[in-house]
Amino acid sequence: MAFTLTKAVIPAAGLGTRFLPATKAMPKEMLPVVDKPAIQYVVEEAVAAGLTDVLMITGRNKNALENHFDRVGELEATLLKKGDTDRLQKVNYSTELADMHYVRQGDPKGLGHAVLRAKMHVGREPFAVLLGDDLIDARDVLLTRMIEECEKRGASIVALLEVDPAVAHMYGVATIEETDDDDVVRITGLVEKPAPGTAPSNYAIIGRYVLKPEVFEVLENTEPGKGGEIQLTDALETLAGNPENGGGVYGLVFRGRRYDTGDRLDYIKAIVQLAVDREDLGPDLRPWLKEYVGNLD
Ligand code: G1P
Repeated sequence: MAFTLTKAVIPAAGLGTRFLPATKAMPKEMLPVVDKPAIQYVVEEAVAAGLTDVLMITGRNKNALENHFDRVGELEATLLKKGDTDRLQKVNYSTELADMHYVRQGDPKGLGHAVLRAKMHVGREPFAVLLGDDLIDARDVLLTRMIEECEKRGASIVALLEVDPAVAHMYGVATIEETDDDDVVRITGLVEKPAPGTAPSNYAIIGRYVLKPEVFEVLENTEPGKGGEIQLTDALETLAGNPENGGGVYGLVFRGRRYDTGDRLDYIKAIVQLAVDREDLGPDLRPWLKEYVGNLD
C-alpha cells in the first residue's frame, strides 16, 4: 500500500495559561520564537516533509492564527509601494506556505478529542499530528523518517526522545522492544504522564505522530483518562495492543535538536538556542552572551 501522506493536523486550541498575561488576548501559538510565531515553525516543518494540507484545530481567541496565514492587503500594498521586497517576501511567505484549513474543537476535552475533530477532513488516510509546544530543528530530520516508517511498516509511528527519568512523568511514556533498526522501536504499551518514579522507561513521546486512520474509531471509544481528558496516548495504547487493527505502533527515536516552548523557562532557552545559531543574530549575540554569562554569579 504505497500512498503519499499529505495531511497534517495541528491541535492549537489550548488556552496557554502558563503564559498569562501574554496570552490573555493572543493565542500562545503566536508568541514569537526569535522573529517568527511558534506556529509558523510547525507549519514549515510539516510542509518540509511534504504535508501541504494543514488542518488546525482551534478555539475561541484564535483568530490571529487564521490571519497569520492569510493575505494582509494593506500591509502588502504599503511594502510594495516602498519597494521593500525583503519584508514583503516575509509577509507573503506564511500566506503561500500551505493549504490551510481550520476547525474549532468546541468542548475542551483533551488532545485525543482535538485529534478526533480531524476525522472528516482526514478521511481514511494516514496523517501526521504536530504539537506546537515542541519545535524540531529544521536541520534535523524527523517527520520524513516517521512517514517512511509508517509506509514501510503499515503502522502508526510516534516520535520518542530519551529523557532524564526525573522528568518522564511530564510526558506520555512507552514500553518498548528493540527492532533491527537502530532508531526504531516497537511499542508494546503507553502510559500518559505516569506518577513520578513509575514510568516504564525513559522513552517519552514528543509531539510528532504519524497515525493510521484506525485511530479515529479508537478515539471515539476512548474514555477520559489522565486529567479527565480524552488522551491520544490512551488511544495509541489500544492500537499498540491490537496490531491487527491498524498495524500496531512503532517509535522513531529522535536524537536531534528539539526545543520545548511549552513553559516560560524552556521558551526562553529555545529562543536563545535558535538565535545563537542564526546568521543574522548569532555573530553579535554570541560574544554578548559569553560576557553576560561570565558576569553571572
Ligand atoms: C502531550 C501528550 C504527551 C506528550 C506531550 C509531548 O502532553 O499528551 O503524551 O508526551 O504532549 O509534548 P502536553 O504536554 O500537551 O500536556
